[in-house]
Amino acid sequence: MDAARGRPVAFVFPDADDTVAATVSELSRREPVFRAALDECAELVRRDRPDVDLIGELTHGAEPASAGATAVRTDLAGLTTFAVQYALARTLITWGVQPGLLAGYGTGQRVTTCLSGRLDLADALALVSHRGGAAAGPPAVRTLTGDTADPTLLADRELVLLEIGPATVLADLARETERSADPALSVRVLPAPGAAATDDESLAEALAQLWLLGVDVDWAAYSGRAPGGLADDGQLRPGRVPLPTYPFQRSRYWIEAAPKTPGAAATAEPANLFEAIASLPKLPEDQWLHLPVWRQTVNPAPGPQPESWLVFTREGVADEAAMALRDSGSAVSLVRPGERFATTDDGFTVRPGVTADLLAVLRALRAAGRPLERAVHLWTMEPPADGVGTAYGLDTLVALAQAAAEVGGAEWAMDVVVAGTQEVVPGDVTDPEAAMVTGPCLVVPLEYPGVTARLVDVSSSPAGRSSRELVAELRRSPTDRLVALRHGRRWLPGYESLPVTDDTAPFRDGGVYLVTGGLGGIALGLAERLAVQHRARLVLLARRGLDGTDEASRRRNAEVARLQELGAEVEVVVGDVTDPDAVRRAVAVARERFGALHGVLHAAGVPGMGLMQFKRPQEMQQVLAPKVAGTRALAEALRIGEADEVELDFLVLFSSITTATGGGPGQVDYCAANAFLDGWAAQHAVGRRRVLAVDWGEWTWNAWEDGLAGYDDSLQEFFRANRARFGIGFDEGWRSLVRALASGESRVVVSTQDFQTVVTGSAQFTVDAVRPAAEVGGERFPRPELTTMYQEPNGPVEVAVARSWCDALRLQEIGVQDNFFELGGNSLLGVSIVTTLRREFELDELAPHILYEAPTVAALAAVIEAAAAGEPSTAAPDDNASQVRAQLRRSGLESSAAARRRAR
Ligand SMILES: NC(=O)c1ccc[n+]([C@@H]2O[C@H](COP(=O)([O-])OP(=O)(O)OC[C@H]3O[C@@H](n4cnc5c(N)ncnc54)[C@H](OP(=O)(O)O)[C@@H]3O)[C@@H](O)[C@H]2O)c1
Repeated sequence: MDAARGRPVAFVFPDADDTVAATVSELSRREPVFRAALDECAELVRRDRPDVDLIGELTHGAEPASAGATAVRTDLAGLTTFAVQYALARTLITWGVQPGLLAGYGTGQRVTTCLSGRLDLADALALVSHRGGAAAGPPAVRTLTGDTADPTLLADRELVLLEIGPATVLADLARETERSADPALSVRVLPAPGAAATDDESLAEALAQLWLLGVDVDWAAYSGRAPGGLADDGQLRPGRVPLPTYPFQRSRYWIEAAPKTPGAAATAEPANLFEAIASLPKLPEDQWLHLPVWRQTVNPAPGPQPESWLVFTREGVADEAAMALRDSGSAVSLVRPGERFATTDDGFTVRPGVTADLLAVLRALRAAGRPLERAVHLWTMEPPADGVGTAYGLDTLVALAQAAAEVGGAEWAMDVVVAGTQEVVPGDVTDPEAAMVTGPCLVVPLEYPGVTARLVDVSSSPAGRSSRELVAELRRSPTDRLVALRHGRRWLPGYESLPVTDDTAPFRDGGVYLVTGGLGGIALGLAERLAVQHRARLVLLARRGLDGTDEASRRRNAEVARLQELGAEVEVVVGDVTDPDAVRRAVAVARERFGALHGVLHAAGVPGMGLMQFKRPQEMQQVLAPKVAGTRALAEALRIGEADEVELDFLVLFSSITTATGGGPGQVDYCAANAFLDGWAAQHAVGRRRVLAVDWGEWTWNAWEDGLAGYDDSLQEFFRANRARFGIGFDEGWRSLVRALASGESRVVVSTQDFQTVVTGSAQFTVDAVRPAAEVGGERFPRPELTTMYQEPNGPVEVAVARSWCDALRLQEIGVQDNFFELGGNSLLGVSIVTTLRREFELDELAPHILYEAPTVAALAAVIEAAAAGEPSTAAPDDNASQVRAQLRRSGLESSAAARRRAR
C-alpha cells in the first residue's frame, strides 16, 4: 500500500434514493456537524414548504429498521437525499477529506453545484423541491470552485472515488465508462442495503479506507469532535467532554497559578492584578498559538430572580423569546425600537442607540418603583435591516450603560442574546455583525464595576434552539461571560495551546501580496520578511502616501526604499480601506503591475480610547470603520462569494485578543471591531477559500502609546515594561503568522502567555484596577500652581465636594474656583467622584459628565444643592455637550495632565 499522503479524492453524488434516509439515524444522533447541516436544510425547506418536516421524515424513516426502509415519502426522496448527501459532504470536509473534484448525477448534481458555491443552499433545495434533480445524462463533474471539469478526469488512476451513498454504483460506472475499472479505488460512505454495519460504523470504515489509500484525513478533527447521541427527548447530545479541572470564570486559578516569585508558594490573593500578569510565565514560542475550544457544561441551577426584567425585543424570534420569559411568570417591561421615545401598553419605544431615550426609560421605571435590575437584549438575535445593525446592537448597549450610570444604577446585569456568532461546531457562524456586541458584553463590566454582562449565543438554526432553553439560561446567575446554547446543551469557551506541527505557509517566492494599513508598524515589519524571504511583490494600501516633506512622509519613503533594497517590488496605493473604490484600485494595481494577487493581509486599524460613558456612535464608528467597512470593501473588491471571486492563497484579518479579554477599560469599540473580524473569518472560511483571523496579543511595536497617558505613572511604567517583556517581536510575529496559516484554522490566538489564564484574569482589568485608589489617608501632594487663586470652601456641600476631589487627586487642599482638569483630573477620576458624591448626598441622579460642565468645586456644589432641592438640572442639554464629551474622552485614559502635575 502506498503510504504517501495527499492522494486526490473526488466526491461522487448519486441520484435520489428513497431508502437513503433510513440509513442515517446514528449519524444524526452522534455527529454534530452532520446534524447541524441536516437542521440547516430542514429549516430552509420548512420556509419554502411549511408542510414538509425533513428531520421528521429522516428520523421517522429511520425508526424501525425492518419496516423503515421505505417509510420516507417517496415524493420527498429528492430532498432527503440532497440533505443527507450535503450533510455527509460537510462532515467529511470537516474531517479534512478535501475533494478535488465533485461529480453528481440527478439530485446529486444539485449537491455538487451547491458545494462548489455556484448555488446557495436555499436555492439548491428549492430547485430539488420544485424541479427535482438535474436532467439525466452522464455525471456532471465540477471542481471545488464550481468550474465544469472534464469527466475523463474521473478515470485518473490516482484518484479515489468516494461515493456519497450506500453503493459504489455511480463511481464504478464512471470508471467503466472510462474503461479503467479499479474497484479498490471506489469507496462508499453509507452501509449497503441489508448490511449489518450501522451508518456511523460505515462512515468510520470509509474514512479508514481513504486513509489506507493515501487520502489525507484530519484525525485530530475526527477524534476531537464530540461523539454523543440523542437524548430520549430527541435533543442532540453532543459528546461529554470531561470538564476541565479549572473553572473558566473564577479568578482564583489565575491568581493561584501565578506565584509572585519563582519557587515561592502560590499566594491566595495577589498583591494586585498586575503582579499576577507579570508573574505568568512567557511560553516557549512554539506554544503561542492557541485555539478556542468549547466545553460542554452541566446546566447550573437558576439564580435569584429579579423583581422585573427590562427586555429589548422586536418582532420575530426576539418576541418569541420575550414572550416565553413572560409566560414563565416573570414581570417584564418591553423596549422596542421606534422613531422616538414613547410609553406603550407593555413598555416603551426608543430610538436605537440614543442615550436620552434610554434615560427616559430608566427614569420611568424608577418612578414606578422598578429600578433596573436585569436587562435582556434581543434586538440582534436576528439580523436587523441593512445598515442599522450597529445601532441596534453596539450603540444601544453602550447607550444603556451610559443611561444606567446617569441614573445611578450601580448593580445590574445584562444578557445579550445573539444567534450564530460563535463557532461551537464548524459552520456555526452566520452573523459576524451581531458578534460586535462582544464589545459591550466584555467591556461594560470593566468600565462599570457592579454591572455584569453575559453574551448568550444560540444556534442560528431554529431547529438547534428553543425558547425554553434560552429562558432557563436567562434565569441562571450571569456569572459566565459567554455561553453558547446548542441543541439543548450548554457550552463554555476555553483556549488551548496548539502544538506546532507544521510551519509551511502558503507564501510564494515572487508572490503578490496586498497589505492594508500597509505603512503601519506591524505591516512594514511583516513586509520586510516577505521581501527578504520571498522577494515578494507588494501593494501597500495606506491613507497617507509618500508625498510630502514632513518627518512622517520622509520616514515612510525611507521604509519603502528599504523594502526595495531588501528585494521587494513595492507599489503604494493611497486610499482608505473603507472606500470600495480605493480597494478595487489596489487590487487592480496588483494585477496590472504584477499580473496576479496571491494573498491579502488586512492590517489597517485605529485604536479605541476613552471611557464609553463619553462615547457617541459616530466616535465608535471611526474605530469600527477600518475593520468592519474595510473588510466589506475588501470582500467587494475581491468579489468574494461571486462567480468571479479572486482566488487567493489566503486572506488574513488582523484581529486582537481583546475579542476574548475585552482589552480593559476604553476598548468597547476596538473589541467590537475585532469580534466582527473573528466572526467574518469563520463565516467566510469555507471550501477552499482560506480566511484567517489572527487574534494578536501585544506586540513590542506600540503605535498607540498615547493610550497609556491617562494612567498613573507607575502603571504606565508597568505597561511599558510588560510589553517589552511579553510583547511579540517582528521575527516572532512573522513566524507566528506562518504557523497560524499552516494550521488551516479560521481563527487563531497568538498569546505569549497561557491564554486561558489571561482570559480569566482579564475580568479583573477594571477601572478600579487602573484608577489610583481615592485615599482618605496616605501621601498628599501640595496644591499645584494654578491660574486661579486659592479660595477656601464654604459651607457643608463645598467642603464635601472639595474633600472628595482631594481624596481622588491626592491633594492636600483645593480651592473652590480651581479647575478639575487643571488639577490633573480626568474622566476616570471624574466618574468615581460623581459616584461618591451621588451616594453621599443620596441623589437620584448625577450625570458623570456634570464635572465637565461644572468643573469647579463651587459650580459642582451648586449643581448638587439644586439637585438635592429637587430642581431640574441646569447642565448643558445633550446635543450641545459634544465638545465636552470629546474633551472627556481625551481625558479618559489618555490625559497626561496627571503625569504633568506629578512631574512638577
Ligand atoms: N500592535 C499591537 O500590539 C497589536 C495587537 C493586536 C492587534 N493589532 C492589530 O494589528 C494591526 C496593525 O497594528 P499596528 O500596531 O501596526 O498599528 P499602526 O502602526 O497604527 O498601523 C495601522 C495602520 O493602519 C492604517 N489605517 C487605519 N485606518 C485605515 C484606513 N481606514 N484605511 C487605510 N489605512 C488605515 C493606519 O494609518 P494611519 O497612520 O493613517 O492611521 C496605520 O498605518 C491593527 O489592525 C491592530 O488592530 C496590533
